[in-house]
Amino acid sequence: MDSQRKNSPIGIFDSGVGGLSVLRAIRTQLPNENIIYYADQARVPYGARSLAEIRSFSEEITHFLLAHGVKIIVVACNTASAAALQNLRKSFPDIPFVGMEPAVKPAAEQTNSGVVGVLATPATFQGRLYTSLVERFASNVTLLQNTCAGLVEEIERGALDGEKTHQILDNALRDMLAHGLDTVVLGCTHYPFVIPQIAKITEEDVRIIDPAPAIARQVEYRLETINAKSTRNAKGKIQLYTSGDAEALASILPKLGFESFPITGIKKGQI
Ligand code: DGL
Repeated sequence: MDSQRKNSPIGIFDSGVGGLSVLRAIRTQLPNENIIYYADQARVPYGARSLAEIRSFSEEITHFLLAHGVKIIVVACNTASAAALQNLRKSFPDIPFVGMEPAVKPAAEQTNSGVVGVLATPATFQGRLYTSLVERFASNVTLLQNTCAGLVEEIERGALDGEKTHQILDNALRDMLAHGLDTVVLGCTHYPFVIPQIAKITEEDVRIIDPAPAIARQVEYRLETINAKSTRNAKGKIQLYTSGDAEALASILPKLGFESFPITGIKKGQI
């Protein structure tokens, strides 16, 4: 691969700010890579939408990222991965995709109590990907599921420590704890931002699995396989795009633990 292509950006997308938990891990793993991140905040949340709708949004965003010259696309959204990943790979065979799936396999391997909780959106639970994960890896464990309705919206507002956030998490986790939960899978990329709030409820005995570091290693591996790792010796640039309000996104970044990044708002019809 020529060096210009090697220094092309990594494209990442999500319905909103959730995929920034994956961006953070990729930044740590591959600091010299340029990154373009697309947050579809005009249409967040994806979780209660139909799989067909999420598929069509994902295709649109893929076109957008390709037009910006990305060399790999990370679907930093469990919901979009469940709905669209297979189709994206078929429709865009020339670009590598890395997607997300709830970490049921590592959770099933690590649990001692045999009780695993999965927090993910309704669309993720409905997708064939999840059913297949459960069939392949979870036959010997009890899986408890919760969609944490409303939590994505709270995180989008930056209300990580808000009353409603605590209530949603408390409702989801109390019952799981009563059943002997010892491992929680974060099956939505928004949820790593509330790990401290989850940990407060579950206390130290419960393992919380955030798949982002494993995804970042997977991105590095894929880039190595196609000889497309950046040759840059300096830190890469990060550029965010949002279909929502750029100023609102800028004001939330510090709450999510980020420095400020350049943000461009994309109007309807521009994508
Ligand atoms: N961050 C997303 C995920 O990983 C989607 C949240 C949503 O838009 O409902 O599933």
